[in-house]
Amino acid sequence: MERTTPVIPAQDVAKQREYCQEIRAINAQHAQAPTAFVDTYGCQQNEADSELLRGMLCEMGYEIVHDGEHADLILINTCAIREHAEQRVFGNVGALVHGKRRNPNQIICLCGCMAQEPHVVERLRQSYQHVDLVFGPQVLWRFPEFMRRIYLRRGRVFETAPAEGAIAEGLPVRRSGKIKAWVSIMYGCNNFCTYCIVPYTRGRERSREPEIILSEIRQLVAEGYKDITLLGQNVNSYGKDLGTGMDFPTLLEQANAIEGEFLLRFMTSHPKDATQRLFDVMAKCEKVAPCIHLPFQSGNTRVLSAMNRRYTREQYLDKVKALRERIPNVVLTSDVIVGFPGETTPEFEDTLSLIEEVRYDALFTFIYSPRKGTPAAEMEDPLSREEKSANFNRLVEAQNRISLEKHQAYIGTIQHCLVDGESEDPRNNLNARTPGGRLVHLNGDVGLIGQFVDVKITDYSTWALFGELI
Ligand code: SAH
Ligand code: SF4
Ligand code: F3S
Repeated sequence: MERTTPVIPAQDVAKQREYCQEIRAINAQHAQAPTAFVDTYGCQQNEADSELLRGMLCEMGYEIVHDGEHADLILINTCAIREHAEQRVFGNVGALVHGKRRNPNQIICLCGCMAQEPHVVERLRQSYQHVDLVFGPQVLWRFPEFMRRIYLRRGRVFETAPAEGAIAEGLPVRRSGKIKAWVSIMYGCNNFCTYCIVPYTRGRERSREPEIILSEIRQLVAEGYKDITLLGQNVNSYGKDLGTGMDFPTLLEQANAIEGEFLLRFMTSHPKDATQRLFDVMAKCEKVAPCIHLPFQSGNTRVLSAMNRRYTREQYLDKVKALRERIPNVVLTSDVIVGFPGETTPEFEDTLSLIEEVRYDALFTFIYSPRKGTPAAEMEDPLSREEKSANFNRLVEAQNRISLEKHQAYIGTIQHCLVDGESEDPRNNLNARTPGGRLVHLNGDVGLIGQFVDVKITDYSTWALFGELI
C-alpha cells in the first residue's frame, strides 16, 4: 500500500501563525480589541471548522462575540447541501450591506462549501460587493494569510479555485463547549452519490495521522471533555490513504483504550463500508456509544443504484440485522431523501416500508434539492412538487409515530446519562443524553452539568424523554 495523504509542511502552517501575530500587532494599536462573529451553517464538520477559524481569530487578537450586527468582522461559514441552506445564506449576507454602510471598516468574509461552487462565487463577485473575502474549505488553514492581504488593503480576496485538499496540523482551536467536542479524523469524500455536492466542495478523502487524533482525544479527556464525536463524511473509509493498514475500527479500539470516563461517538458511516468488524468493535468497546447514524437515503434498489449508493435494499437490511445481533439496544438514526429524480410513488413506498421494518429511533428527512454540477441535476424529474410533498408528509408522519413508540418503551427504565447543559424546556432545567444519544429533560442542580448520572425515565414525547434523578 502506498501513502497518498497530502500533508501541508509544518513550516507553512507556522507561517500562518506568524501572520496571526502580525495582525495581532496591528489590532493592538487600538484601545479596544476588535470583535469577530462566526456564523456557522451545515454539518458538524463546519462546526469543527468554525472552531479552528475562531482559534485563528483569537490569535489575531479578535474577541469572539455571539451577535454579528456590530462586530468588526463577520465570517459566514456556509453549507451548500440544499437550495434552502443557500437561500438563507444569500438572504443573511445581503442584509449585511446596511451594517457595512454604517461601518465601512467592517470586514465581511464568507467561507465553507458555497465558496467552492463557481456559480455562487460569480454571484458574490457581481452582486455582493460588500463581501471582502471568500475562501473554500480546502484553504481554511490559509485564513490568516488572506486576512493579512485585507489588512494591507489589496482589495477583495477570492480564493475559490477547485482544490483536492490536504491535511494541515497545528492550527489553533477555540472550542465552543466544555463537555462535548468534535474531532475531525478525515476530510473530503470520494463517494460521488449522484445528488450530492460534498465531493465537489470538500475535495478528496484524506485521513489525519492516528497518533495526532489519539493525542487530541487524550488532551480533551484530560481537560474534562466527556463526549467526543469523531467526524468525517464517511468515517468507515478512514485510513485507506495512509498506506499503513490502519482502519476505522482499529482507531476506535485505540481511542477506547484511553483512560477516563468519556463517550466516543462518530459520524457519518456509509452503509457500503460498515463492516461486521466495525459492529464487533462497537460492541466490545465500552466507551463507544451504542448508536450509529447509518443513512439509507432510499428503500428502493433501483433508486439506490441511480443515487450511486452501491448497496441494495437487501444489503442494507442485512447490515442492520448484523448490527442488532451484536448490539441489541443500538440507537439507530438515518438520513433519507424523498423525490430523487425519477423516483415514482411506488418506489417511494419502498422507503416507507423500510422505515417500518427497521424502526429508526430518529430520521432526518429531506426533499431532493438539485445541486448544480451533480449528475442527478441533469436527470429527468417528472414527479410534481405536490406529489413529492405528499410523500414527504407520509414519511414524516410514519416516522413520528415510530419515534414516539420507541420513546414510550423507555418508560420505567434507568439510563446512565451525561448531563450536558441547561434545558430550554419550561418544566425541566437540565438536558442530558442517554448512552445512545437520546435527549432527556430533567430537574437537578446545574452543578451536575458534565457528570454522568442515573436517570429514571418517566415521560416521553416524539422528540425527547423526561426523567428523574435517582
Ligand atoms: N456524508 C454523509 C452525508 C452528508 S450530507 C453521508 O453520506 O451519510 C447529509 C444528508 O443530506 C445526506 O445523507 C442526504 O440525506 C442529504 N442530502 C445530500 N444531498 C442532498 C440533496 N441534493 N438534496 C436533498 N438532500 C440531500
Ligand atoms: Fe455526499 Fe454520498 Fe459523500 Fe455522503 S457519501 S458526503 S451523501 S457523496
Ligand atoms: Fe453542508 Fe458542506 Fe457539510 S455542503 S453539510 S457544510 S460538508
